Amino acid sequence: MTKFDIVIRNGLVIDGTGAERFRADVAISDDRIIAVGEVDPTLWAREIDAAGLIVAPGFIDVHTHDDRALLSMPDMTPKVSQGVTSVVAGNCGVSLAPLALAEVPPPPLDLLGSEPGWFHFERFGQYVEALRESPPAVNYGLLVGHITLRHRVMDRFDRAARPSENAEMQRQVDAAMKEGAIGFSTGLDYPSAVAAPTEEILPLVAALKPHDGIYCSHHRNYFDRLEEAIDEALAIGRETQVPLTISHHQCTGAANFGKGPKTLAVIDKARQNQVVGLDAYPYDASSKTLDPGRAQPGVRIMVTWSTPFPDLAGRMLDEIAQGWGCSAAAAAERLLPAGAIYFQLDEDDVRAILAYEHTMIGSDGLPHDVHPHPRLWGTFPRVLGHYSRDCGLFSLEEAVRRMTSLPTRWFGFRDRGVLRPGAFADVAMFDPVTVNDKGSFTAPAQPAEGIALVMVNGNIVWQANRHTGMRPGRRLRREPGA
Ligand code: ZN
Ligand code: CU
Repeated sequence: MTKFDIVIRNGLVIDGTGAERFRADVAISDDRIIAVGEVDPTLWAREIDAAGLIVAPGFIDVHTHDDRALLSMPDMTPKVSQGVTSVVAGNCGVSLAPLALAEVPPPPLDLLGSEPGWFHFERFGQYVEALRESPPAVNYGLLVGHITLRHRVMDRFDRAARPSENAEMQRQVDAAMKEGAIGFSTGLDYPSAVAAPTEEILPLVAALKPHDGIYCSHHRNYFDRLEEAIDEALAIGRETQVPLTISHHQCTGAANFGKGPKTLAVIDKARQNQVVGLDAYPYDASSKTLDPGRAQPGVRIMVTWSTPFPDLAGRMLDEIAQGWGCSAAAAAERLLPAGAIYFQLDEDDVRAILAYEHTMIGSDGLPHDVHPHPRLWGTFPRVLGHYSRDCGLFSLEEAVRRMTSLPTRWFGFRDRGVLRPGAFADVAMFDPVTVNDKGSFTAPAQPAEGIALVMVNGNIVWQANRHTGMRPGRRLRREPGA
């Protein structure tokens, strides 16, 4: 009699709770884990040998721009090759729905790719339905973005939304939540959102309250007004009593170096009075659309894509400017629309932020960049290999907790992020000795090392360095307290 579809044998289980690893078999039936422990060897159909490997819950990438990739690159190889089994999309104010646009998407909507035609979901529910009909390899939680709503509702962006426009955006947040979103995001330093005052954001976040939604904030400034911007985000969360995620927490620019411990202290204090979480990626360089205003002397910038000059992807802005005999800012203007990597973070701050016990891991990877930031392919293995094993920033058990049960509790993804009987069979198997990211800033698109097998809802999607072609991903609901 066969009772289980698959049993993973001989591995060391790190269950995602932070508990120490232990030797156990993991038995899976259909999409669920049925047993963790000793399993009768006559009862399974298929055996997977995990000798020498860690068996962990699949990782949750809490900060992504995968909205369109879930449809256009449904294998999601940059993610599953890292052990990622679930993503949260729609961050930084940019979501694929609800918005229909015939033309090339204007920045920063082009974070989702600069080709026309992809923004064609008038209703959030149509996007949800498209994903249900053509599922990706990973599970997905979806946010609705403020910038997307501004583009839907407003004719110009250098002003606050009028009361009627704000009412329409509130209606759209409400509709998106009813049709499958888990929350709302902002990107308040992007040109089409900088003119939105706090008063514009407050009612949009408040509209989440009846739905138990979550607010993910790429706040107003990560540079010279960093502290002020964090205060604004905290105030919005406090006033609306909606859980606040501070997105890609970082202290950008030389003037901010060393501030990490201070901003963390502010967040820690706020946590006594309100619900606050945060995410970060494990690199000392950031990436977003190319901003000529940031092309200052001494700032190293790499071009990740450029519509007028596609061949220059991967080149340093300084070199391009030299070749053209102009300033870096002038070169940046000519390259637009374009994306960039900014080498402007302090390694000690990156470590302090990663080491903070409440920090979740989010890649912020940009899947449509021609020459992406290496975080797209390497975030999770880099935390496990480089920061946990090689730098000793925290134990492997703690590293796994940051990318599994911490985010599933925060977002309310029921029965995920832990290896225990009854949980969904989202599994990442990896070699603790070799796991690491392989991509670099010059050659970013490299599958990680040491990820042996990845399973989503009981289906193997990645094995022996290859995608199996399976696409078993499902939409994730937010069920607080789950
Ligand atoms: Zn952002
Ligand atoms: Cu982002």
